[in-house]
Amino acid sequence: MSRRRRIYEGKAKVLFEGPEPGTLVQYFKDDASAFNNQKKGTITGKGVLNNRISEYLMTKLGEIGVPTHFVRRLNMREQLVREVEIIPLEVVIRNVVAGSLSKRFGMPEGTQLPRSIVEYYYKSDELNDPMVSEEHITAFGWATPQDIDEILAMSLRINDFLLGLFLGVGLRLVDFKLEFGRLYENEEMRLVLADEISPDNCRLWDTKTGEKLDKDRFRRDLGNVEEAYQEVARRLGILPEG
Ligand code: C5P
Repeated sequence: MSRRRRIYEGKAKVLFEGPEPGTLVQYFKDDASAFNNQKKGTITGKGVLNNRISEYLMTKLGEIGVPTHFVRRLNMREQLVREVEIIPLEVVIRNVVAGSLSKRFGMPEGTQLPRSIVEYYYKSDELNDPMVSEEHITAFGWATPQDIDEILAMSLRINDFLLGLFLGVGLRLVDFKLEFGRLYENEEMRLVLADEISPDNCRLWDTKTGEKLDKDRFRRDLGNVEEAYQEVARRLGILPEG
């Protein structure tokens, strides 16, 4: 992995130059961080599991016609993706009250929302990812009104699909975060789902027991973090190699 040109290093992933122009290799680390890097740690085997889980979910989404940056998994920790221009937004979709929504409005975690809520945050470590409205997004030129319409429609479609998929394996999709990018092909721009979908950026609760099977186990020091990620992979029918 060290021979390739490193394009970008994030908290949980590294992006390397890919084998062909317009491609990147996305490498999944075991590093975990929370509260904008204030809490750091390692979850052994997390990178391998997230690589598999994200491959599985992106592939399923591709099968229902959601455009994604995913091309194929290369090995235990790497996947080949299309190079995109990342839109600097974190799109959070919520089905159940939890996390920052619970804090902000003083509502108990676990309250079912009458309809899904979509929120936008500006991706900026320095600013602590502030929540933004469509007005900010268009005024600051991060996306056009058409882009936002498309992002919203895709996010809701992804949510509907993933809600059912996870429910089928006994998991409640409480909330999750998505990122989108622009792909330029034959002079045309397409918006595609980028980044990853894994227990690092989803809240997943066991439908029967309510047990948390996601990164909140790390954020809140609940223990058995690796086991929770493994359980999600096991339920999805994915077994890591090796
Ligand atoms: O912290 P909050 O409740 O706003 O998080 C909502 C959802 O978005 C959670 O599933 C969390 O894992 C995800 N998220 C993320 N990256 C962030 C912020 C939130 O993946 N920077």
